[in-house]
Amino acid sequence: MASALTYLYNIILVSSACFILLINGEDSDWFSETKVFEKMEEKVTHLHFYFHDTISGDKPTAIQIAGPKAGGFGDTMIADEPLTEGPEATSKIIGRAQGMYALSGQQEVGLIMVLSYAFMEGKYNGSTLSLLGRNPIFHPVREMPIVGGSGLFRFARGYALAKTVWFNNLGDAVVEYNVTVIHY
Ligand SMILES: *[C@@H]1O[C@H](CO)[C@@H](O)[C@H](O)[C@H]1NC(C)=O
Ligand SMILES: *[C@@H]1O[C@H](CO)[C@@H](O)[C@H](O)[C@H]1NC(C)=O
Repeated sequence: MASALTYLYNIILVSSACFILLINGEDSDWFSETKVFEKMEEKVTHLHFYFHDTISGDKPTAIQIAGPKAGGFGDTMIADEPLTEGPEATSKIIGRAQGMYALSGQQEVGLIMVLSYAFMEGKYNGSTLSLLGRNPIFHPVREMPIVGGSGLFRFARGYALAKTVWFNNLGDAVVEYNVTVIHY
């Protein structure tokens, strides 16, 4: 008898709990919260590519849009640069770096980089990474934060290591990148 009563009591408890959940669900139909990341696996992805910055010639990939003089403090560029598999200019293009960079260092030559790395090949075709950081271009290796991404790189965070592998006295350069990002 006692166990039958306990059983009934439990049923009443559970159904009122469900009812309260339903009511609360109806209250919040303008937003929803789900603990997706308990089920989604976090992964680390490494990317290796070369960035081709051409400011000379009749087909530059970066142009000055503001600033006192090219190469001086405040010089601001808009860039749309090919990203390739290998260091050669003829190497396969896997994406483009689009955005801007500006000379923002007074004590030493350094850029502020505000760029989207848009991938256009293979698995990451259509996905992007957002890079925002300081780039003291004469250091052998520069580290810059990856602050976000889209597509397969949603919620990405990580860092990019950049090393100049070639440059000329006109300001053109080829830069090797190793990017490490955590995403889902
Ligand atoms: C990348 O995606 C675009 C848009 O879906 C498509 O047009 C293009 O062919 C794709 N490129 C490669 C190399 O798969
Ligand atoms: C990128 O990684 C490769 C392989 O580990 C290494 O040889 C190269 O020096 C690295 N470059 C940068 C800029 O970190």
